[in-house]
Amino acid sequence: MASAEFGTVFFDEITLANFDGEKWSDTRFGPSDHLPLHPASHVLHYASTCFEGMKAFRAADGAVCVFRIDDHIKRMQNSAASLYLPVPDAVQLKAMILDLLKKYKAQVPAFPGSAYIRPTLIGTDPSIGRAAAPTSTALLYVLISPVGDYFSADATMRVLLDTENQRCAPHFGSVKSGGNYASALGLIQKAKEKYNTAQVIFAPNGDVQETGAANCLLISDTELLTKPLNSEFLPGITRDSLLKVAAKLGYQVTERNISANELIEWIKTGEVALSGTAAVLAPVGEIVYQDQTHTVNQGKEAVNSKRLRKYLNDIQQGIEEDTFNWITKI
Ligand code: PLP
Ligand code: COI
Repeated sequence: MASAEFGTVFFDEITLANFDGEKWSDTRFGPSDHLPLHPASHVLHYASTCFEGMKAFRAADGAVCVFRIDDHIKRMQNSAASLYLPVPDAVQLKAMILDLLKKYKAQVPAFPGSAYIRPTLIGTDPSIGRAAAPTSTALLYVLISPVGDYFSADATMRVLLDTENQRCAPHFGSVKSGGNYASALGLIQKAKEKYNTAQVIFAPNGDVQETGAANCLLISDTELLTKPLNSEFLPGITRDSLLKVAAKLGYQVTERNISANELIEWIKTGEVALSGTAAVLAPVGEIVYQDQTHTVNQGKEAVNSKRLRKYLNDIQQGIEEDTFNWITKI
């Protein structure tokens, strides 16, 4: 399992529900390798789609712990509303996730593996004429992939700090929609070719925001620092969790804007790490900025990032007490 590329292996089935323009259908199970779609489907032309990414972990007692399911569902509802897609019913979507997980519970891998849960909503109106109008019909489905680590805790990633470009349209950054990822793809790929970087920290006009698939946290022995939420970047649920965990562990937690120059100054003595459901909290080792490579924290081990990552992982697996009420156990 751990050897397969992240997100390429799936439970045999997905759960699905359709919106017919007026109401949601009952949920059904279907095969996970086949999705019949009209070639004119709205999503295929005008990107009327949003998705979520959450994880379920196996606890020592064999139970499966889903992490912050209600918060992920809420964010999906917000994304759907922003795209004028039919908003999924929270109770139905939660059951679509839990019923699928229950059926395939035996396939949830042990830590550091997990089940990566991908609820997806797509516009299905068979109309290529509706370029400037929302879809009225939609399909909601839940796909689950048993996964290993996306980035290991020991990875020392090389990233580009890009002050010239932005990841996506600024009014749409907080929406978890496929188009935002498409918009960043070329920039990340060009950075890889030019600088051999794995990720790009987007900092348009020097404002440090996020990478293509994770939020950006500055961490020291005493402090956790990150940008306050706005419409321009994704309100990461891992980010929010780590802010709360850090405060609990006695770090001073500060949300304020951070300039690119300040980030470069910070890494002389501090850590930088990328937070996300897939990434968890992945330390950055080198930052390329204005054609120069800067080593983070003199190449020292990212001890604070690792400590926060472990504490979060321990809550997720039911080792550390769930004082925040983040776990749904099945
Ligand atoms: N930013 C982007 C662009 C992402 O794709 C993700 C991953 O989901 C995140 C941030 C982190 O969000 P979360 O912690 O909710 O997974
Ligand atoms: C997530 O962390 O859920 C993401 O969306 C990132 C993706 C690259 C798997």
